[in-house]
Amino acid sequence: MSDVITVFKGDGIGPEITDSVLAILNAAGAGLTYEIFSVGAAEYEAHGALIPDEAFASFEKNKVLLKSPITTPLGTGFRSLNVMMRKKYDLYANIRPAKSNAAIKTPFGGVDIVIFRENTEDLYAGIEEMVDENTARSIKVITRKCSERIIRDAFDYAVNQGRKKVTCVHKANIMKLSDGLFRNIFYEIAKEYPQITAEDKIVDNVAMQLVMHPQQFDVIVTENLYGDILSDLASGLIGGLGLLPSSNLGSDYAMFEAVHGSAPDIAGKGIANPTAFLWSACMMLEHLGKNETAAKIRRAVDEVLADGSVMTPDLGGSATTKEYEAAIIARL
Ligand code: NAI
Repeated sequence: MSDVITVFKGDGIGPEITDSVLAILNAAGAGLTYEIFSVGAAEYEAHGALIPDEAFASFEKNKVLLKSPITTPLGTGFRSLNVMMRKKYDLYANIRPAKSNAAIKTPFGGVDIVIFRENTEDLYAGIEEMVDENTARSIKVITRKCSERIIRDAFDYAVNQGRKKVTCVHKANIMKLSDGLFRNIFYEIAKEYPQITAEDKIVDNVAMQLVMHPQQFDVIVTENLYGDILSDLASGLIGGLGLLPSSNLGSDYAMFEAVHGSAPDIAGKGIANPTAFLWSACMMLEHLGKNETAAKIRRAVDEVLADGSVMTPDLGGSATTKEYEAAIIARL
């Protein structure tokens, strides 16, 4: 039976990498049927809705969304659709695996970190106001409910994947109440997992440690803002944003997307690296129980990267997105 999934094409490089990823999924025999929608800033300009009602309805029916990046205006304009989707569908667990690939040369070998980022609250709750003309205020919200579930997911993942350590990242020395609550809950839950080492570190120290000794980290669990920033940092350790996938999971819905944005600087040039989005699609296949297809695609990507002759410019090559896609399909 074919699984039906919803696909959002997004802005910037979104449509280019979506076309490539769907072509590779089809070539791998993923057995998926797609309901595809244009969403985002470009869709708004063309038809007056950022996300058409039918697109929401499709996701609500299929429960699984493969979403490419959407442009968000800075400072003014509509609120981030990404943040809205995560809140609307309570996609509370943003899981971002950053793993070194032997074929991609960086100064940091042996990185294998999975970041569990709380996805629905913290400073991203969107509670902002102008107190007066010269004073703006954003409220940070940390709750027991949202902290408990992401922390428990991180420990469960560590157990299921044979990982050894979970590091809680916070700034409880300054935000004693909010980050203090997150840290306290972390140690409460850690007691349920005696086989996993539990430690906590302050976020600024972690930024430095990630660059100096990234191999010490295993699973990281953290709040929304820190997780957002540290996962981009982690992508730099393994070769850039073109290589960092993610899943956004809730109890009812699942959304899979690359960590990177719409990359307007290279949009339309046909040179975007679709790997992060493709690996996000592999996480989706695993979520759907199609582990063999995911493994087949991961193997083909590894072979193409190891061969090194067909790489996109962000990885030091000169291949187009289409040439890279064709090389992966040839290896399937
Ligand atoms: P970005 O991630 O789009 O780009 C940062 C840099 O990385 C750029 O130089 C870009 O060319 C490069 N890059 C990113 N993905 C790449 C890929 N697949 N292949 C090759 N190079 C790649 O971040 P930026 O420029 O800060 O944001 C652009 C827009 O994307 C903004 O409107 C932002 O709000 C939005 N955004 C959307 C996200 C989402 O939809 N989940 C996530 C992050 C940003």
